[in-house]
Amino acid sequence: DKDGHRHFMAKEIHEQPEVIAHTISRYIDGTSKTINLPNGAFDFAKLDRLTISACGTAYYAGLVAKYWFERWARLPIEIDVASELRYRDVPWTKDGGALFITQSGETADTLSALREARKNGQQIASVVNVPESSIARESDIVFPMAAGPEIGVASTKAFTCQLAALACIAIAAGRQRGTLSAEEESELVSGLLEIPRLVAEALKQSDKIETIARDIAKATGIFYIGRGVSYPMALEGALKLKEISYLHAEGYASGELKHGPIALIDENLPIAVIAPVDAHFEKTVSNMQEVMARDGKALLISCKDGIARAGEKTWANIETPKSHPLLSPIVYAVPIQLLAYFTATTKGTDVDQPRNLAKSVTVE
Ligand code: F6R
Repeated sequence: DKDGHRHFMAKEIHEQPEVIAHTISRYIDGTSKTINLPNGAFDFAKLDRLTISACGTAYYAGLVAKYWFERWARLPIEIDVASELRYRDVPWTKDGGALFITQSGETADTLSALREARKNGQQIASVVNVPESSIARESDIVFPMAAGPEIGVASTKAFTCQLAALACIAIAAGRQRGTLSAEEESELVSGLLEIPRLVAEALKQSDKIETIARDIAKATGIFYIGRGVSYPMALEGALKLKEISYLHAEGYASGELKHGPIALIDENLPIAVIAPVDAHFEKTVSNMQEVMARDGKALLISCKDGIARAGEKTWANIETPKSHPLLSPIVYAVPIQLLAYFTATTKGTDVDQPRNLAKSVTVE
């Protein structure tokens, strides 16, 4: 049942305020403004390293989480896609933990990476949407997310719920390791509690994004750039576009553009700039200006303030609500998803069942 939407993907994009709220309610104690992890979770204070692994969109959720664990918990992170991690000769540490992220819980590469980590004495945790799945069963601890069934092949609500759960876990890790003060924890918890409302707000840009997508659909390709936590979001934005609209898209760290890909820039290759007003804003904007100076079409995705500061001579802007700066990926996921969705509907592709793709990849 698509609930009045044309596609499951649209329905699932619009469900996000509700399912993110459900997910964080599994972790947040609203009165004390603290995070509680399920019983039996890692003792983060004793871990000497956390290895994170997953595939596709779930991997990008892990990449965002790397910034969070490093910042809040000062925890060394190893991260790789599961199809590489399992074949590498990882020098596992004695007191290591391994965290796997998966919507389906059945992704073959992720499951094999989990078994490899287990064989090497790591404690195993997972963030899984399907509680009765293989990966959930083989984990010592399952961190819940509450996205509900995801039907569209492209991951949308599972991604933002993964992010919400991972933010909670990283905050709790920071408290356990004594690297995050009580004030910081309560500030982050307040920031998280605002996210469902901000995501709902971001969804209101839908019509504007549909108009922009009509032009993107005519482009030869698109670049996404971002810095810090927005870098994995650039990768995710490009993946989402590729898989449902078949438009060639690439995600880059903002600072990497000048090391090669800028050579491709012309008026037929728009560049979407994920630029929340955070510690990296000025730098990312100057990367955007390098593109504009070469006749590139810049699409600035930022908050009202960011657009006022840098959106005057851009090709187009998408306004996105301002959140706690480190939590911005959960909100910025929305314009990224909508841009892919409307590019695909403009081109008339099969949004829910893109060619060559399966919802759960059980082959290696
Ligand atoms: C992209 C997408 C895939 C999955 C990946 C992992 O939109 O859906 O990249 O994220 O196949 O799947 P799970 O999370 O089920 O392990």
